[in-house]
Amino acid sequence: MLKVGLIGCGDIARVHAAGWLSLREKAVVTAVSDVVEDAARAMAQRLGGEAAVFTDFHRLIAEADVDAIDICLPHHLHREAIVAGARAGKHVICEKPLCLNLAEAEEIAAAVRAGGITMMCAHNQLFDPAVQRAREMLADGALGNIFFVRTCDCFRHTKPLSEWGWRAVASTMGGGCLIDTGYHPSYLLLNLAGQEPVEVSAVSGRYHISTLEGEDSALMIVKFANGAMGEVLTSWAWDWPEGAWQFHIIGEKGQLFGRGRRLFFKPIGWQPASLELPERNSFAAELEHFVDCIATGTQPLNTHIHGTRVLRLILGAYESMRERKVVSLT
Ligand SMILES: NC(=O)c1ccc[n+]([C@@H]2O[C@H](COP(=O)([O-])OP(=O)(O)OC[C@H]3O[C@@H](n4cnc5c(N)ncnc54)[C@H](O)[C@@H]3O)[C@@H](O)[C@H]2O)c1
Repeated sequence: MLKVGLIGCGDIARVHAAGWLSLREKAVVTAVSDVVEDAARAMAQRLGGEAAVFTDFHRLIAEADVDAIDICLPHHLHREAIVAGARAGKHVICEKPLCLNLAEAEEIAAAVRAGGITMMCAHNQLFDPAVQRAREMLADGALGNIFFVRTCDCFRHTKPLSEWGWRAVASTMGGGCLIDTGYHPSYLLLNLAGQEPVEVSAVSGRYHISTLEGEDSALMIVKFANGAMGEVLTSWAWDWPEGAWQFHIIGEKGQLFGRGRRLFFKPIGWQPASLELPERNSFAAELEHFVDCIATGTQPLNTHIHGTRVLRLILGAYESMRERKVVSLT
């Protein structure tokens, strides 16, 4: 039974809590922490009332009976919490992004190495049923060489302008929509292309959420080492209508595209065939993967090394927006 400390008890922590409750036979949340004590207490209640409550996550790491920590903090606090957990020998799963810059990523890598712990980046969309099946089909060579991958995550955000808190400020957010929601299509792009990105360019805008210092929409274009092209679209200003697929991969033998649990396979010369896959909550699936990796001593699908690759791509995209140029990633 893995004992987990949940750090940060805001919006996404509630989704993680539901995931942990669905894994009762393998893991239990024994401690929670939030600077807002009421938020931590409410989370402890949500989890069954047994978890110890802390307002300082350093104290949770030092004093609570936990083997692992699950970090659901604002972006500027990820590095501090990961490093503190790793130094104390706790396994770590951390929400995206890994951290704010590459210097922080190096510090994290050193702490993970020294602590000898399992470190997983919470790249939950890798666990969506359509993505999982597409990954298997790609590994079986269903598309042959990949020419083009497009990924997308857009929705019209309805949070009132006054409630954007740490997300409104570039220094705590690390940017805008691209480093937040845009992190999902970015790791999907890298994972599905299976290639090193060598160049990135990007444009962005703020169309709907005027209180943000960063962008609320971004479009990124990537060139991969094998010559394949990639594109990422993310937005909080508009919806994601039917037909705007979460991912679309084109290769020498055909195309794969889909979203959630719907996957389409279109071999060249044929109409697309649609697959309806069994539902699986991607957050519960990623938490179970984390627990199983610790139990078996195997590396997660997405470690801090993968998180750093995604961050490098996104920081390159921000440089491209600032300097209005194509940025080399090699
Ligand atoms: N995977 C996804 O789909 C997804 C969706 C939303 C958010 N996220 C990620 O989850 C993380 C948190 O986002 P959120 O939307 O839940 O934010 P949030 O603002 O709702 O929650 C953050 C919580 O952290 C608490 N906090 C702040 N400083 C703290 C400290 N020093 N110690 C302990 N607690 C502290 C806040 O009081 C708040 O309750 C971010 O990394 C975000 O990118 C992921």
